[in-house]
Amino acid sequence: MMLNLLKHPLLTHKLTLLRRKETDTKDFRETLDEIAGLMAYEITRDLPVRDITIETPLGKCTTQELAIDVVLVPVLRAGLGMVDGISNLIPTARIGHIGMYRDHVTLKPMTYYSKFPDNLPDAVVMVLDPMLATGGSSTDAIQVLKNHGAKTIKLVCVVGAPQGVERIMKDHPDVQIFLAGLDEKLNEHGYIVPGLGDAGDRLFGTK
Ligand code: PRP
Ligand code: URA
Repeated sequence: MMLNLLKHPLLTHKLTLLRRKETDTKDFRETLDEIAGLMAYEITRDLPVRDITIETPLGKCTTQELAIDVVLVPVLRAGLGMVDGISNLIPTARIGHIGMYRDHVTLKPMTYYSKFPDNLPDAVVMVLDPMLATGGSSTDAIQVLKNHGAKTIKLVCVVGAPQGVERIMKDHPDVQIFLAGLDEKLNEHGYIVPGLGDAGDRLFGTK
């Protein structure tokens, strides 16, 4: 099963804060980062490690370290709000960017920017976007990454709609999807209901 609906009391509590309409920009930003960090803990559970011998102040120690590169790719704008929470935990992660916005009438994603590190083919690539609505933005972002050589891709969204999940499973059955909440539906404007509103606007205070 490629859909992973993450469940943890802290995650649930923080998602409730994020959804509340009273939550202001400062708290929204901080909470989104915290949620991303909590999600990363679960998402990275299967990363490979390799043996390594190091010296502690008291002697040799055979232990382990991460054996794969991690690349984070936030989908601009709202995905930016998830980067610090994960890169604080994985400081060696390299960061690419993909800029997309949904046309308000057609709901089709328009790509306006992309820049990636050169290790995509060998890395675990995490696509970050708080919202998986129609799935159009995420599916296009994943395709752009595949076109640049990415092979192992994890899609990390906070709230998803069934339509978006189905779209990714159909277009990219090889990609694991991680969500903290799976909501009921999309409204006529393509917003997730109940969702949390416009993630980019709430994160950056643009409305
Ligand atoms: C939002 C959100 C996703 C996209 C999800 O971005 O951050 O990228 O919509 O919708 P979809 O699954 O139907 O494609 P938006 O287009 O509002 O751009 P912004 O982050 O710059 O505000
Ligand atoms: N983009 C958002 O920011 N929110 C939604 O509910 C859907 C798309």
